[in-house]
Amino acid sequence: MQELVQRTWSPRSRLHVGDVAWERALNAGRRGDTWRTAFWEDNGQVVAWGWAEPDHLSLVVDPEWAEVAGDVLGWFQEYAPDGAVSVLEAETHLVAALEKAGYRADDDAPYFTHHRIALSDLGTPVVPDGFTLRHVQPDEVQQRAAVHRAAWSDWGPSKVTDEDMAAVMSTWPYKPELDWIVEAPNGEFAATALIWDDKIHGIGLVEPVGCAPAYRRRGLAQAVNLAALHALREAGATHAMVCPRGDDAYPKARALYQSIGFRPGARSRLYVRR
Ligand SMILES: CC(C)(COP(=O)(O)OP(=O)(O)OC[C@H]1O[C@@H](n2cnc3c(N)ncnc32)[C@H](O)[C@@H]1OP(=O)(O)O)[C@@H](O)C(=O)NCCC(=O)NCCS
Repeated sequence: MQELVQRTWSPRSRLHVGDVAWERALNAGRRGDTWRTAFWEDNGQVVAWGWAEPDHLSLVVDPEWAEVAGDVLGWFQEYAPDGAVSVLEAETHLVAALEKAGYRADDDAPYFTHHRIALSDLGTPVVPDGFTLRHVQPDEVQQRAAVHRAAWSDWGPSKVTDEDMAAVMSTWPYKPELDWIVEAPNGEFAATALIWDDKIHGIGLVEPVGCAPAYRRRGLAQAVNLAALHALREAGATHAMVCPRGDDAYPKARALYQSIGFRPGARSRLYVRR
């Protein structure tokens, strides 16, 4: 799956290697038994895949093999006839296949807007006195999982376990040097920003960012993002991207990224059957 994502990646792709690493590693332990994944190959090379979880489809199809998109949708429809499919609006070969297969865009669904920043001109990360910016150590799985749960419990308690985070931290292309935290004066992890570096394309994906509720609106998410972006630049990348919600039901994440200098580009779209 990752080989295809990386080989075909362009600014018009919905998925970066970091998306696949994060989503699959984080959730496989709790939800993996409900997923179905299928591959289409030519001479041993994967040219398309579909990942159904279970009634939402993500797919990657090599644009050189655009006709295979119809096969992926057919496979998905067999057991999820009312399922939904996410694509980036710029993935025109997938949009064409969806329309041909009888799907239409759901304009009321939440969506994500890709944002991008050049790493040539980054601001300086600043944290309040007593707080420390640093990257995670490989043996800090429990603290790393705890701050993730704290940041991602606004909608109900996060189900992410220490084991889930251990899986993330052992999944290619995770690097502790690109997983940054703000440590509070009491030693607690207060905020995090994780970046996944695609070495072939020189672009890192920021996914995810979080700040524990007790520490919010003090500039910590901004600072930890910037620190991770500086580390990404030192690792040789030229750009970073992030994909916050683009609809107005959840504006604070995109406000955060735009305050750092990320600029919006293409948006995702959810397609459902007519
Ligand atoms: C979004 C989140 C990371 C912000 O963390 P934070 O440390 O409070 O953010 P910062 O203090 O660094 O804020 C920086 C900028 O982001 C924007 N921002 C942050 N929180 C905001 C809010 N609640 N409403 C509107 N804008 C907000 C503002 O532009 C802010 O600058 P300002 O304070 O000068 O106005 C935090 O609320 C969180 O963890 N939420 C749940 C997880 C999440 O949504 N993560 C992001 C998507 S990957």
